[in-house]
Amino acid sequence: MGECRQTNRRYLKRFGPYDFDKKKLMRTLLCCAFLSAATMYAQSGISGVWRYEVHRQDDTIEVLFLNLNQQGSSVTGDVIENYHPRHIRNGSYTDGKLHAEISRWGEQVIDYDGALAGDRLELTISRKDNSSSPPHVTQAVATRSTEDAIRLPAPLPLPELHDVPDNGLVRTPPMGWNSWNHFAGRVNDKVVRAAADAVVSSGMKDAGYVYINIDDTWEAGRDANGNIQTNKKFPDMKALADYVHSKGLKIGIYSSPGPLTCAGYEASYGHEEQDAKTYASWGFDYLKYDWCSAGEIYKDGDMRPVYQKMGDALQASGRPIVFSLCQYGREDVWTWGAKVGGNLWRTTGDISDNWESMSTIGFSQMKIAEYATPGRFNDPDMLEVGNGGMTDDEYRVHFSLWAMLSAPLLAGNDLEKMSKSTLAILTNKEVIAVDQDPAVHHAKQIAAENSTEIWAREMHDGSTVVTLFNRGDQPAKMTVEWSKSGLGTPTGARNLWTHEDVNLSGDTYAVTVPRHAVVMLRVPKS
Ligand code: GLA
Repeated sequence: MGECRQTNRRYLKRFGPYDFDKKKLMRTLLCCAFLSAATMYAQSGISGVWRYEVHRQDDTIEVLFLNLNQQGSSVTGDVIENYHPRHIRNGSYTDGKLHAEISRWGEQVIDYDGALAGDRLELTISRKDNSSSPPHVTQAVATRSTEDAIRLPAPLPLPELHDVPDNGLVRTPPMGWNSWNHFAGRVNDKVVRAAADAVVSSGMKDAGYVYINIDDTWEAGRDANGNIQTNKKFPDMKALADYVHSKGLKIGIYSSPGPLTCAGYEASYGHEEQDAKTYASWGFDYLKYDWCSAGEIYKDGDMRPVYQKMGDALQASGRPIVFSLCQYGREDVWTWGAKVGGNLWRTTGDISDNWESMSTIGFSQMKIAEYATPGRFNDPDMLEVGNGGMTDDEYRVHFSLWAMLSAPLLAGNDLEKMSKSTLAILTNKEVIAVDQDPAVHHAKQIAAENSTEIWAREMHDGSTVVTLFNRGDQPAKMTVEWSKSGLGTPTGARNLWTHEDVNLSGDTYAVTVPRHAVVMLRVPKS
């Protein structure tokens, strides 16, 4: 810039204000413009919006953005994934090198290291989780983009509230299998067919498991008419649904009211009715509808009309479709989930395959138990039984809790490779009968001491299931006091885990329950 000013001064000195050479002046002005642009570019460094793509193995592309603001050597801003901005921490830019960190789901730290090469930002992205396993490293090239590219789609007009009629489905909690907990993004047509086969051959179908549910990552984009497309993992959804139906089972699918699903795949925003019709035409019987990127567009207070829209669309689709709401229990969904046509609604964040996660979820549900009625169920998330992160005792606690809560029993393990003990837990018909009891009475806590809890739940036949949980790290001697529990003086009970009849006498029943374990008794009507 300084040089330009000098050049101008030199012209004025040489030719005077009115006596000048036009060509030379043009050259000078161009030189000034070029130098100004170059200087501005150099000053902006890496500030601005950068776009990069991740090519997934299923041939779909995930688009991500970095919105960077460089001030000297410090860099602030966001990494934008599925429209969700994650704030950069420890951002720096020195000697042409970017370093930025974000954290994701409280579990992962992602480092972005980049080098500016002309108009490209060459990125090395390292993802570390809480475990000691080495970081997962990927490379990507980001190019400059515009503010427009990261602008959120506008919220759609919300429908007037009304009560969506009961669809009459799932009078007892849905039972089946869902792909997410074990397979996540590795689900495909083959995995789903194998799950259907295994449900039949293992005896799970006989034990009541019906729904084979495909979770996230089946989607591709849309065709010219806006019809949702499957990615290459699912070459023919109709044929897959036909296959699952041929086994006497039902099939479920997954979407979101936002533009993208939680895993960043195409979702139903602006195509709700069209998608419901597509699912019906493919033969689907169940939809899990996951809030995800809708949260960037709508307020939490808009959840009811947004879910109602899909509730109506499913009922207009011409096929009975179970409606599963997944918005992590926000906005007290148990108070309005039924009104939008929901058959079940998630009540918590995602479960993980460990004692801490499972028991925190399971033991926190009693306070909303009363909202479960036939056809309308609280959903504390899918089962982790058999996924390897808990002991068999802990998985028995998991299954017993879900049964006592009338929760959906959606197995989340690899059914082809499960152990005998996993199968025994999942097909314990006496515990399943508690979950599936048609009266859907609510469990009550009848005693609690230190890390132990005793729950009771009345069954439709007047019997009562009494469940003794030891949440502690040491074995605990636990005692049921029958008269205090209002159960008279029973003379016998059925142990639902050992499948033995138990003789009872006197007013108490005492048992030592191992750490993280459970005893479940069904006491006949006195
Ligand atoms: C959310 C849901 C999960 C699963 C994933 C898929 O996290 O809560 O159950 O559906 O999305 O991306």
